[in-house]
Amino acid sequence: MASPTSASVKEQFPLIPFTDFSSVTPETKLSDLNLNWRERDLPEKERTKHVHRLHPYLGKFIPQLVEIFLRKYQPKMVVDPFSGSGTTLVEASALGIGSFGCDISEFNCLLARVKTDEYDLDLLEREILDILGKTTGVSQAKLLEKRGLYNASDYLTRWFASEALCELLLYRDLIPEYRYQDVLKIILSRSARSARLTTHFDLDFPKAPKTEPYQCYKHSRICQPTRDAKQFLTRYSHDTIKRIREFSAVRTGAEVDVVCADSRHIEFPECDLVLTSPPYVGLIDYHE
Ligand SMILES: C[S@@+](CC[C@H](N)C(=O)[O-])C[C@H]1O[C@@H](n2cnc3c(N)ncnc32)[C@H](O)[C@@H]1O
Repeated sequence: MASPTSASVKEQFPLIPFTDFSSVTPETKLSDLNLNWRERDLPEKERTKHVHRLHPYLGKFIPQLVEIFLRKYQPKMVVDPFSGSGTTLVEASALGIGSFGCDISEFNCLLARVKTDEYDLDLLEREILDILGKTTGVSQAKLLEKRGLYNASDYLTRWFASEALCELLLYRDLIPEYRYQDVLKIILSRSARSARLTTHFDLDFPKAPKTEPYQCYKHSRICQPTRDAKQFLTRYSHDTIKRIREFSAVRTGAEVDVVCADSRHIEFPECDLVLTSPPYVGLIDYHE
């Protein structure tokens, strides 16, 4: 038989975690909601829907948590002084709420802007496929002859196989030819991250380049360090088109402003909600 304590806990705290996010209104009592989600309540696919997975980012908000707060408090303008990959801004845009984000990292601001910008979707798709074709439609021999490894730093030659590095450098050289350069930079960064000479189980914190086959804990077999970047450029190009198209179907015209600065020293616009997750100082290196 259940003890009185567990009965009263059950009464106060529903067993099934709350997932009916669009039902939240200003009247919803947050203290009544069980937000203790397990994978089966809020699967990764939902937590990383549309642009939320345009690029890996450590320490990201769960978007549905942001959605709950925005629906509850219904601000006209929300500020996130540590906006990171832009989760607050993306969710605010989807709900027609103006937002202002600040982050000290240039890359995080680039990512947040790419997620929230408005695009001519057909042009964006043409550009992504065009640069992909120019980079991956070239044979390895031609690529080495055409691009080679000039201007590649010691760091890059240590962390990438020469074929992969040639492809990534050619892609980088071509970016200035296009209008949506920031989107291409995100695809390049995501591909470069996956094409590093690292093990599959150590993508977040690789310590040293891996050049030989290794026993992979993630796949329980012998895996090879990657030799090329084409496979990643191809996969992430198509994934980016799909994700930006999905988000453009739900984004509104609400204003989004992203500023790269130290939030201790800037003037914030007037707002009626501050929603943030501050940095995990000393635990996560956001600027890897
Ligand atoms: C926990 S993360 C925020 C993650 C964000 N909520 C998201 O979902 O992507 C904290 C962020 O604070 C940024 N940061 C750290 N110190 C800062 C400062 N002084 N001013 C502005 N941003 C800062 C880091 O670059 C990092 O992106």
